[in-house]
Amino acid sequence: MQVSINPGTLNEWTGNLLLIGILENELQEHLNLLAHRYGKGIDKKIKANKFKGKSNDLLSFDLLNEEEDKVILIGLGKSENLKIETLRKAIAKASRLFIGSSGRLGIHLPWELVNQGKAVQAVSEATRLCFFKDQRFMSQPEEQITPEQINLIGVNETWEEILETVNPTCAGVELARELVGAPPNELSPEVLAETAKKISEEFGLKLKLLEREECEKLGMGAYLAVAKGSDLPPKFIHLKYQSKGEIKKKLAIVGKGLTFDSGGYNLKVGASQIELMKFDMGGSAAVLGTARAISEIKPAGIEVDFIIAACENMINGSAVHPGDIVKASNGTTIEINNTDAEGRLTLADALVYACNQKPDAIVDLATLTGACVIALGDEIAGLWSNNDLLAKDLIASANTTGEGLWRMPLPASYKEGLKSLLADLKNTGPRAGGSITAALFLKEFVDEDIPWAHIDIAGTVWSDKGKGVDPAGATGYGVRTLINWISAQPLVK
Ligand code: BES
Ligand code: MN
Ligand code: ZN
Repeated sequence: MQVSINPGTLNEWTGNLLLIGILENELQEHLNLLAHRYGKGIDKKIKANKFKGKSNDLLSFDLLNEEEDKVILIGLGKSENLKIETLRKAIAKASRLFIGSSGRLGIHLPWELVNQGKAVQAVSEATRLCFFKDQRFMSQPEEQITPEQINLIGVNETWEEILETVNPTCAGVELARELVGAPPNELSPEVLAETAKKISEEFGLKLKLLEREECEKLGMGAYLAVAKGSDLPPKFIHLKYQSKGEIKKKLAIVGKGLTFDSGGYNLKVGASQIELMKFDMGGSAAVLGTARAISEIKPAGIEVDFIIAACENMINGSAVHPGDIVKASNGTTIEINNTDAEGRLTLADALVYACNQKPDAIVDLATLTGACVIALGDEIAGLWSNNDLLAKDLIASANTTGEGLWRMPLPASYKEGLKSLLADLKNTGPRAGGSITAALFLKEFVDEDIPWAHIDIAGTVWSDKGKGVDPAGATGYGVRTLINWISAQPLVK
């Protein structure tokens, strides 16, 4: 799919597929415009179908003239309420209806009323991302027909360069969706490591892969405890992006990489959705998707370390017992009072490793707690941070991409819940406030002077029905927020 800008007017544009966004208060102008293009009868049809330009109004015409196969009108509501988000959602809804059509799709919107650069980004991403369909595991995949060319009609040519980031960004989101969607018998820690290797070779990133023995030498007792019950070896993955020239900022991104979470001896039973726990590597998928995109976009002046402690949480004779006491690589001892709180154990050692890279900021993404799903649902991820500026930047980045993100508190008093009789910490606190104690647990493994943020994506990693730009299934959540955040870094210390 190729997106390009057509600075001309709708009347000058030619193609076979057309999508027109119409504001309530501009209905009459559009009726005139459409009558001019398709003949007088069209305004009757529009009125007869009660299309008024209200948001969610949608009208589709086939074969209006010799050249055009399909024309879709989508309502955008009142101009004073028009936001980028309105455009993104409307476009995702309408573009879907072009699946099955090939050729050139023109998109005509009231670009002048919003920030054109942001609108170009949102609309192009929405169009491509809602065309995505994962058919890798079908024995007879359907042929996926979608428009090959997308023209943004009436956009100022100065926004051309935005398009250069759209394709790498979408490719990153799609990679993350494919990794999360892959079943656990296909996607092992080893396959995550191979994916990292492919990215490093194709896009020129440095890769360091640590096997179990090397992790043992580094004292990663928390991470390795989780991996003990699996027949598959753990893989600690470290990819590094370095821009050419002087490096002014160093960032680290850490992703939870449980390719399957059975719960361990605290086995997931009842309604705990054990069959969905292939998505427990959603954080690492976002990290790899971002790594792929960043190495193509090549932002200047920065280094980014992408870190994943990948493994499986399974049960066998050598699996960790509930009650085991282990030691993390910073020397902290942990009583594992619940083997299902495994993500934080892997992240503990990954965060210590990230701190040793001496970054200016660390962001971790993890499908960490069911409690976060209860608190925020599947459209909003939770954000915890020890730094207000970092939290503000991440929320701003999430807002521009349309990914939901909400800051949550980190009250020191809740640390009480992680007190152990025998060790420095327990890995699980009380049920109430479970996402907060999980974040407080992670905080114990981050140097106090490093700005750090934790994003709990347990709810947003997967969508049962599909929503906005996301088809049902894996969403690829986090990739767009991370890319935006990395690309928007001020290059001063
Ligand atoms: N991977 C799960 C969290 C999760 C649950 C993600 C549901 C998505 C949907 C995590 O490892 C886990 O099991 N967390 C436990 C923690 C508890 C034992 C303190 C949970 O949330 O129940
Ligand atoms: Mn678990
Ligand atoms: Zn888990």
